[in-house]
Amino acid sequence: SQVSRFTRDLLQRRPPLTFAFDIDGVLIRGQHVLPQAKRALKFLDGGNELGIKIPYILITNGGGTSETIRCQRLSNLLGVENKISTNQYMQAHTIYKTVAHEYADKPVLVLGGRPGAIPRVAEEYDTVLLLVVRTDMQQSRPGFDPTTRFAAIFVFHDPRNWAFDAQISLDIVCNHGYVLPASMRPTTEAWSMQPEEPSSVKLYFCNPDLLWGSDYPTPRIGQGAFRVAFQSVYQSLMGKTYPYVQYGKPTKATYAFAEQLLRKRLQEVLQEGSSGKKGDVDGEMDHTPNVYMVGDNPESDIAGANAKGWQSVLVKTGVYDPARGPPAHQPTHIADDVEQAVRWAINREF
Ligand code: G3P
Ligand code: MG
Repeated sequence: SQVSRFTRDLLQRRPPLTFAFDIDGVLIRGQHVLPQAKRALKFLDGGNELGIKIPYILITNGGGTSETIRCQRLSNLLGVENKISTNQYMQAHTIYKTVAHEYADKPVLVLGGRPGAIPRVAEEYDTVLLLVVRTDMQQSRPGFDPTTRFAAIFVFHDPRNWAFDAQISLDIVCNHGYVLPASMRPTTEAWSMQPEEPSSVKLYFCNPDLLWGSDYPTPRIGQGAFRVAFQSVYQSLMGKTYPYVQYGKPTKATYAFAEQLLRKRLQEVLQEGSSGKKGDVDGEMDHTPNVYMVGDNPESDIAGANAKGWQSVLVKTGVYDPARGPPAHQPTHIADDVEQAVRWAINREF
């Protein structure tokens, strides 16, 4: 699509106006698309009186499928003509790409999502030798080779079977990465000499959401609730919680990753339709983008945006319910829905 001269001027001459949209509770609720979302994205994609194209990204604590597949599905669902690019999309576990290389030759356990979906996602992350928990409870013990020593546990998405996922995680962290204690493992020479240093199994979570806005009338518990349950069981058994790495909104790491994505998207928009003539696109985008984050969850969307120094707009179409009092984190603005949020921001900027 042709990017108007005005868009280029707009993006190159001043901190460029950009948006970051949360997905669940803002653009969609479950499989239901909010009609306001379609209008808001069409407006930003150039469907406005000036033909201005305003860059935006989608940043969700959801996940469970590959970024490529999710972008295709969202483009169809939201009616975005020029397909949402993977430079516009960040889900809970996208940031795992920054640590996958540390496990290039070590077995890791991945949890969450529909059985079988996650391995394909993780394969896009250059993580090899993935072993996925079979979440069917019929098997009293997972069919893992007892000689496998897991280096890490990655929770990729909201676990479907908490009991099973918590059990296998406990087995691994309590047995130094193995599913069985030393006394029950085959005593091969090389093996039994394995030093039993304190468990070095790293535990990663990528979505701290206790609650999220689906198409159910009230918020649903999310991956953050599974982490609380796992830590409560571990603490009851071991007298302390197990150390873990937390990614996802509102963590600083996730918002820093999102800003880098926004810069890539800005460059992509500037390159679109540019004739390649000198001066058409003034080199790298070195402005810090002026970001408006639109979200429905004060704990993840508003808290994270505020901490990042972005403008934050809280909408009433998801987790946040004004009838239950003021939000735990004060946004720049409160709007009924995403379309009102975009119009408020545009009027504020121009
Ligand atoms: O599992 C999805 C949920 O935790 C939140 O998704 O899009 O509102 O960040 P989102
Ligand atoms: Mg949300």
